[in-house]
Amino acid sequence: MNVQTPAHSADATNVEDGLAAPNFSTPVDSSAATELAMQNTLLTPRFYTTDFDEMDAIDVTPVRADWDALIGQMQSDPNKGHFKKNADWDHIDWEGMDPDLRAEFIDFLISSCTAEFSGCVLYKEMKRRGSNQDIVTLFQLMARDEARHAGFINDALREAGIAVNLGFLTQAKKYTYFRPKFIYYATYLSEKIGYARYITIYRHLEAHPDKRFHPIFKWFREWCNDEFSHGEAFALLMKTDPKLTSGGNKLWIKFFLTAVFSTMWVRDHQRPAFHQALGVDPAWYGQEVFRKTSDISRQVFPLVLDIDHPRWRRGLERLDRANRQIAAAKKRGGIGGKLAQWWGSARAGAAFVGLLTIPAVRNEVPAATRLEPAY
Ligand SMILES: [Fe+2]
Ligand SMILES: [Fe+2]
Repeated sequence: MNVQTPAHSADATNVEDGLAAPNFSTPVDSSAATELAMQNTLLTPRFYTTDFDEMDAIDVTPVRADWDALIGQMQSDPNKGHFKKNADWDHIDWEGMDPDLRAEFIDFLISSCTAEFSGCVLYKEMKRRGSNQDIVTLFQLMARDEARHAGFINDALREAGIAVNLGFLTQAKKYTYFRPKFIYYATYLSEKIGYARYITIYRHLEAHPDKRFHPIFKWFREWCNDEFSHGEAFALLMKTDPKLTSGGNKLWIKFFLTAVFSTMWVRDHQRPAFHQALGVDPAWYGQEVFRKTSDISRQVFPLVLDIDHPRWRRGLERLDRANRQIAAAKKRGGIGGKLAQWWGSARAGAAFVGLLTIPAVRNEVPAATRLEPAY
């Protein structure tokens, strides 16, 4: 082991040291939690792989000034040491927590941890395989941040007696191949929607501190600023090649926007107790997050979804109902269950296509890409 291995992933200056920190090791693996993280459904976080050579060939010259400023900001590392428990970490009575809330919150933590770790694994691999100094530097910095985020969630889970075996996940979880342009769209959006999700909860709890049922929410502001920077990097990467955001690729952008938004909607509606405890209506929260994400994405995408279209909400609700039908059918099992599952999938597919056919709103992309977190 490296002699300089930090005591905690929060203090690590690179991803390797972060992953080697003691809070990353999981002596007791909770098989149920790891199993949950292993799932690959449309609604669970996946691990990705891509054409790393193609990504390594990106030339950031067209965005050099913005690029160097962003990398400089990430290298200054304002959040070093932030993602660990301190005096602000209040005691949580896990035993006394409402069982529904406990189950949904743990599900939330496991899925967030898997998503953070998925980013970490992808970025670390890009850094390992690359030879382009600009790209390697960026991915090293982003992998560092995601290792800290995942390590911190793991701390919170460990306190509840749960450990996700992240080493095992790296080895055993299925990797989905996405060509680089799809990685840009999907990752850009997941970073920006991550920012919008975390800051919306943070601001809500700032106004309603009595609803903060777990201390991890206190860390969300710095957290989402990291995600914001990661999103900025992908915006600049897309800016290096105008083809990525024009022509037929506009359809892909619309597809990814619709997929990312509707997945969030369905997933959040599976956690009623969690949202009730926060004092947040998941439908309001969804629309609020979509609005923020849409506004930010105007920096690079030539279109935004019309989330105020009358068919938008109806389509999301149809998708949610179809998804509940699929879940119930799975539970039921047998031939009847299988048939109901297929029928539910067909309905979900139809609802998704319905959402895709809502006309998008054109956006004039500004010449200057860079944004600062404003919410
Ligand atoms: Fe993260
Ligand atoms: Fe991120």
